[in-house]
Amino acid sequence: MKATALAHPNIALIKYWGKRDKLLFLPQNGSISLTLDGMWTKTTIEFSNAHKIDSLTINNEPSELTDHQVNHLDKIRELGGTTAHAKIASETNFPVGAGLASSASGLAALTAAATKALGLELTEKELSILTRQGSGSASRSICEGFAEWHRGEKDDGTDSFAETIAPKDYWPGMRLIATIVSEEKKKISSRAGHEQTVATCPYYGGWLATIKDDLTAMRTAIKEKDFTLLGETAEFNCLKMHATMITTKPSIMYWEPASVEIMHAIQQWREEGLESYFTIDAGPQVKVLCMEKDVEEIEKKLQALLGVKRTIVCKPGDGVSYSEEHLF
Ligand code: PMV
Repeated sequence: MKATALAHPNIALIKYWGKRDKLLFLPQNGSISLTLDGMWTKTTIEFSNAHKIDSLTINNEPSELTDHQVNHLDKIRELGGTTAHAKIASETNFPVGAGLASSASGLAALTAAATKALGLELTEKELSILTRQGSGSASRSICEGFAEWHRGEKDDGTDSFAETIAPKDYWPGMRLIATIVSEEKKKISSRAGHEQTVATCPYYGGWLATIKDDLTAMRTAIKEKDFTLLGETAEFNCLKMHATMITTKPSIMYWEPASVEIMHAIQQWREEGLESYFTIDAGPQVKVLCMEKDVEEIEKKLQALLGVKRTIVCKPGDGVSYSEEHLF
């Protein structure tokens, strides 16, 4: 009862921010993302009565499973008809918990590996729905390329799932440069951020009111391969989300001075004719959207900025996959 799965983080171009059901991880709004090939999480899981406890290592270091992760495993165990404990090993090639969507690739790889280990044969939609209950944004990492996570209407969440809207080879010139400005774990989890924003931000209704138009614009941008529309829509959507975070009580500010430095630089370079756009999640790292032809120049300019520790260039990536090369 052992299986290994590989998943990539995804970066939202239209963000998911705020839950309408905390237990089922149902979002207040739909979102659209790009799955990235440059970063990955590989997870092996084995269920066995020989294991006395559930255990987890991340990059060979023992790590505590959170109550939420154990609940998620219990849900999968119930579906698989077992009570056996799990041994889990996970490897990742990028900083965990620092706003690079590690929870997305982590929970997607874990859910895929666990269901496979227990012999559950789920469709992509079923796997996305199950993964969503481990981490909302992880529901999109099941899918390749551009994915849309539907908000859904039902209380039981059966219509809230992600699906690929354009596969990874659809727009081969598309690039995302992740700039790492800090490798430290963020102080406020996205879970706390979602809750606090919905509960206390006076502008949250304004955020929700603009989502429909943003989703429509993003679908059009992808359909027509209109990079300017994609970038402008993503950047503005990101700023709107951060505006709601900043105006919660107490204020949540994920940006570091270096994040702001990069945002200014990108807007300046754009005025000078070098086209790129930024997007930022619940952390300080800035993700830069650009086209392949400009990657070299933009990466060089980014690396010259004081606050940039390193950069990772990503292309549109694969959805979840399985491997026979287990980690133990
Ligand atoms: O799924 P969570 O709880 O990690 O929340 C993700 C929130 C953002 O990254 C800020 C936006 C998104 O859609 O990924």
